[in-house]
Amino acid sequence: MRIGVLTSGGDAPGMNAAIRAVVRTAIFNKVEVYGINRGFAGLLEGDITPFSVYSVADILQRGGTILRTSRSEFFATEAGVKQGAKVLEEYGIDHLIIIGGDGSMNGALALQKLGVSVVGIPGTIDNDLGFTDYTIGFDTAVTTALDAISKIRDTTYSHNRINVVQVMGRKCGDIALYSGLSGGAEALILPEVETDLDAICLRLLQGKDRGKLHSIVMLAEGCGNYRDYCVKIEEKTQVTTKGTNLGYIQRGGSPSNMDRNLASFMGYNAVLSIIKKETGTVMAQRCGSYLGIPIEEALAMPKIFRQDIYDMASVLSI
Ligand code: F6P
Repeated sequence: MRIGVLTSGGDAPGMNAAIRAVVRTAIFNKVEVYGINRGFAGLLEGDITPFSVYSVADILQRGGTILRTSRSEFFATEAGVKQGAKVLEEYGIDHLIIIGGDGSMNGALALQKLGVSVVGIPGTIDNDLGFTDYTIGFDTAVTTALDAISKIRDTTYSHNRINVVQVMGRKCGDIALYSGLSGGAEALILPEVETDLDAICLRLLQGKDRGKLHSIVMLAEGCGNYRDYCVKIEEKTQVTTKGTNLGYIQRGGSPSNMDRNLASFMGYNAVLSIIKKETGTVMAQRCGSYLGIPIEEALAMPKIFRQDIYDMASVLSI
């Protein structure tokens, strides 16, 4: 039996831990394992190398992905998926493990529909997949954002200002939501909630009147640019408003304990499910348990917005 593994889409801290778990579990079970470089783009070009137990030494603590990654437009076409399946056949790869986000899991589904045996592992800092409580990389990204918020809070307090902190998340505001809760942000601007900037500004001014010396506004990138919000908020509140975009800092760095463990469980279980001939699934963590869910069913599960966390964050930051 021969397994291939690739990482695709935006990289996420913990992808290396998942690769390591896949390779070690395969080799332990006497299954050959091949690394496919640069995601689906590398698959289409046959950029494939055999992995040994040493290939994944000393990568558990490293951010990024040793396999590197890409976003392939051609693979998203019917011709692209067919070519991908053909390359796998040429290399004698019987099963493919795909580590990535939404687009990558849709690529997995397209391959499965052509009869390729696939297992998906959710790896994205966005935490935007409805079938799993957490995706690999999310916890590290939130921890990175939290560290930045704490630093920004220090200087915001000293200068008695407002600071808008922009984090990643186009359709899903989880990074802003979770780091905003743990960082004590005064306001959250998320794609899932309609923004009432007047109400936000009123809230910031009420806090100031009660003696608050700092105000942090967390902004998810899907809601617009922090610079525009800074201008509008300063106009409405007459308080100096600065802004910071955390950008790609959120995608790098050594993975947290949670991400390493999540990645290890998922990588290990992905290989075990292949050995048990239970493929066509994605790995998920739901309510503390690990399970495989049929890909199509998993992708149809809507991402549920945690209104309860949003409400709690609003109460705790009055
Ligand atoms: O999907 C992960 C993510 O980091 C998003 O949060 C962000 O919008 C996007 O990728 C950025 O993509 P790129 O690396 O192509 O600029």
